[in-house]
Amino acid sequence: MKQFLFITDLDYTLVGDDDAMAKLNQQLELHRQQHGTKIVYSTGRSPFLYQKLAAEKTLLAPDILVCSVGTEIYINGSQDPDARWSDKLSQAWDRNLVKTISANFTELKPQPESEQRDFKVSYFLDEKIAGKIVPELERALLEQGLDIQVIYSGGQDVDILPRHANKGMAMTFVRQHLEIDVAKTVACGDSGNDIALFANRKEKGIIVGNAKQELLDWHKANPNQNRYLATAKFASGIAEGLQHFGFLE
Ligand code: GLC
Ligand code: MG
Repeated sequence: MKQFLFITDLDYTLVGDDDAMAKLNQQLELHRQQHGTKIVYSTGRSPFLYQKLAAEKTLLAPDILVCSVGTEIYINGSQDPDARWSDKLSQAWDRNLVKTISANFTELKPQPESEQRDFKVSYFLDEKIAGKIVPELERALLEQGLDIQVIYSGGQDVDILPRHANKGMAMTFVRQHLEIDVAKTVACGDSGNDIALFANRKEKGIIVGNAKQELLDWHKANPNQNRYLATAKFASGIAEGLQHFGFLE
């Protein structure tokens, strides 16, 4: 059985070096045709910004698209997010209260409307003060009894999500939906919202060589032999990791 489940972040992981991506895409597409390998994109982008990227770059059509930091799952090109996942997330989520409490933090600048999603409230926050503000924000939200998590990414983005939604939880859902074993699953990323793909995971993990400090710091503090830190950047780093784990030759 050579089939595997390939899950990758887009910005600065798969996308970043066009030539390297074209080469990797070719290998992955061949593997999909020959072995039924599944290709899943897991991005922080909304479907709107994903479509924008897809119009600019030559991406493969993914078998499953996970948008908005694990909160929306689109299967086989569907226009509607998977209802089983949305129903699960809607259970303990009070979007209005999240927004009301977050509004007390004047350091937070709201992201564009397209990035405010049913299960994701997003802001920009200066990296210099993030270390102080993010824990304060999280505390304020938790004190109201909200079942949330706060994720800081790319040295600029704050995402507030239901506690049971992130890229890692979405990966479990996708893997179980496709009925592929953990040992045959590999996830790739470069920044803070990808930590959930790697934290306490039996799936293999690849961190690309250009990863952000927030992810590198976390990686150092949480070693795991299922995780590989590539030397090469972007798609070349993914290819290096896939070879390391024996998924690709
Ligand atoms: C993408 C999304 C943005 C999010 C960021 C980090 O850039 O568009 O809303 O905050 O990823 O997850
Ligand atoms: Mg990224």
